[in-house]
Amino acid sequence: MKKYLNNIIQGDCLDLLKEIPDNSIDITFADPPFNLKKKYNGYKDSLEFQDYLKWCENWIAEMVRVTKPTGSIFVHNIPKWLTYYAAFLNKLADFKHWISWDAPSGPMGKTLQPSHYGILYYAKDVSQNKFYEIRYSHKRCRRCCYLSKDYGGKKAGLHPFGPLVSDVWTDIHRIKHNKYRDEHPCQLPIHLLERIILMSTDEGDIVFDPFVGTGTTVIAAKRLGRRYIGFDIDGKYVKNAQFKLLRENSNSKIGNIWVSWFLDGLTTIRDKDWEELSQNYFIPEPRNKIDHTAIKFIRTKEIGLKNKNTSNKKDEIMTKRERLLLR
Ligand SMILES: C[S@@+](CC[C@H](N)C(=O)[O-])C[C@H]1O[C@@H](n2cnc3c(N)ncnc32)[C@H](O)[C@@H]1O
Repeated sequence: MKKYLNNIIQGDCLDLLKEIPDNSIDITFADPPFNLKKKYNGYKDSLEFQDYLKWCENWIAEMVRVTKPTGSIFVHNIPKWLTYYAAFLNKLADFKHWISWDAPSGPMGKTLQPSHYGILYYAKDVSQNKFYEIRYSHKRCRRCCYLSKDYGGKKAGLHPFGPLVSDVWTDIHRIKHNKYRDEHPCQLPIHLLERIILMSTDEGDIVFDPFVGTGTTVIAAKRLGRRYIGFDIDGKYVKNAQFKLLRENSNSKIGNIWVSWFLDGLTTIRDKDWEELSQNYFIPEPRNKIDHTAIKFIRTKEIGLKNKNTSNKKDEIMTKRERLLLR
């Protein structure tokens, strides 16, 4: 286990998982191949229906085994497969949520347009489960700055930062532009994983991903001061992710508080941290002005937030030289 810690290892996750002791990981997150014939570098994404499900049951059972009693298990996939996963997971762990991540995908023929992925969220033991309430920033009209949602007469009572996060996530977008993506068909945005990590772990906790791909989960964990383990079967993906990881720092924080940044703003905070964080903000008064005036971060310079500049966009684009080094 020690050799895996803060590392990305190349290999078949079912083999490597054997080395991880029972009840040793704080959260496990899996974003497996979806069996949709996606073009991976080496992996052939096209198993027979029952073979795919059997394979999934094997690694899901392993994920539950290695998760601590206080820990959580997250699995990301399309709804079709999640219905089977949920039926299986219900026998092994405690259901918490089916998170619906609003993210349109390609048309599938004669069906409704698929517009969300699901993230199953299970507690190994709900009576001991570690969980923090989290908030996301208010959505506003880009041009006029007014709140997108109509809160009617309740604006004076609004939380200045933003609402508590529900089980429907509409504020995190897929990485669409090729220039922001790695050479990988299924890269998740880092702030999606940061949200999961902030709500379910503490600093120093261990985050594990058996299908790490471009390294999203381990990068998010490192930025947030967590320990991590990532596996992937493909040597090229592993090299790429290891390389990116080297350039990351554990500094996504304001003072002593870990936060999730994207571009030039905070996307997720813990509810309990707001009182301290609010000291870094200009908050319009009277409070109902929040309707048309956003709170403003006023202490960037003194704090020197490095991840503000290394958020998902710029820093994820490798220089030509770095890409060459990888080959
Ligand atoms: C959907 S992608 C994960 C993408 C990742 N979440 C990201 O944001 O980059 C699935 C990954 O699983 C890897 N994979 C497929 N079979 C595997 C196995 N048996 N063990 C470990 N990794 C495997 C593939 O190489 C691929 O990178």
